[in-house]
Amino acid sequence: MRILLTGGAGYIGSHTTLTLLEHGHDVVVVDDLLNSKRAAVERVESLSGRTVPLHVFDLRDETRLDQLFARERFDAVIHCAGLKAVGDSVARPLDYYGNNLDSTFAVLAAMARHDVRRLVFSSSATVYGENAPLPCQEDHRPLSATSPYGQTKVMIEQVLTDVASARDGLRVALLRYFNPVGAHPSGRIGEDPQGVPNNLMPVIARVAVGRLDRLQVFGADYPTADGTGERDYIHVMDVAMGHLRALEHLDAMVQPARAFNLGTGTATSVLQLLAAFERACGHPLPYDVVPRRPGDVPANWADPARAQQELGWRATRGIDEMCADTWRWQSQNPSGYPER
Ligand code: NAD
Ligand code: UD1
Repeated sequence: MRILLTGGAGYIGSHTTLTLLEHGHDVVVVDDLLNSKRAAVERVESLSGRTVPLHVFDLRDETRLDQLFARERFDAVIHCAGLKAVGDSVARPLDYYGNNLDSTFAVLAAMARHDVRRLVFSSSATVYGENAPLPCQEDHRPLSATSPYGQTKVMIEQVLTDVASARDGLRVALLRYFNPVGAHPSGRIGEDPQGVPNNLMPVIARVAVGRLDRLQVFGADYPTADGTGERDYIHVMDVAMGHLRALEHLDAMVQPARAFNLGTGTATSVLQLLAAFERACGHPLPYDVVPRRPGDVPANWADPARAQQELGWRATRGIDEMCADTWRWQSQNPSGYPER
């Protein structure tokens, strides 16, 4: 298939591009590079030995998007582009609603004009909100989220479901990622958050490489096995493979839009992840326990049964592999990607 991958220079998008190329698909990337670097796409090209056209513009530029669709005749779209920083979305809600919703509307309009009928969307476990029973199951209602970022995912899922119901032949997979971590085993591509990272794995990786002094553990008084927060960490290469399986499944889908959890089904605590990373990097990592972070839930993990049954997909990589691959990427690229 000839695939438009939006946000293909980003963390999930770059790993997904590589997986698609390795399985014989052609990929064209649109990315505005606001939260990513051109080098990510160049490294995907060198790892795959294939060319990946990168078009640097904001998806909300409907004229350029239309011209691209007219030229390329896509068979499918994977829509990973979006702003994703939770705290930032609380401070700048209009930027998040504007970017994430309007770019999705632009993609949908171009798909309709050029009769493209397959769409895979990057959603998030954040749509389960604070009160969903565990493990999270796709049919849980109502969806809700605790941040403007999360609300954009809830709203876009609804928009995509309505549009798919109205447009004959359109099929949409809503992939709800849990906590993607890790990197390609080559160490050539990985997660390179701009500015101060908020998520646990990039913070641990920066402590390990000496870019940060210590990890702050947000709360050790949760009702969990060791008192620290538990999450469903999933290797980014498993997430990438989930996109391939979803793409292959779209034509067989009975419902116009369907949600799938991409998680492992197991929870790992902050201290367990830290210990696994210490094993991977071979030295102890200093940390302090500090008060809970507002908005955090004690524990969260997926029921991955639907993706297993319907997509034939399941996560195959464990916590040790996630940490070893993150460490390889971070130690080989201590400052992330070069500017060019
Ligand atoms: P990322 O920031 O690394 O990649 C997103 C890319 O989209 C960036 O390169 C950014 O510059 C680009 N982009 C944003 N708005 C754009 C626009 N209007 N036009 C063109 N390009 C634009 O993020 P990621 O971790 O790869 O996440 C990809 C998707 O998955 C996002 O939608 C995110 O919300 C979702 N998601 C990520 C996680 C996670 O932990 N990484 C978890 C759940 C869901
Ligand atoms: C967060 C977002 C979620 C988003 C996801 C992936 C919130 C409330 N949720 O999820 O919407 O989809 O990132 O981008 O922000 N932790 C520490 N110290 C740190 C960082 C984290 O102890 O420096 C702990 C947290 O308290 C949590 C766990 O590590 O228990 C995982 O945190 P994080 O990686 O930020 O992911 P989530 O909170 O699950």
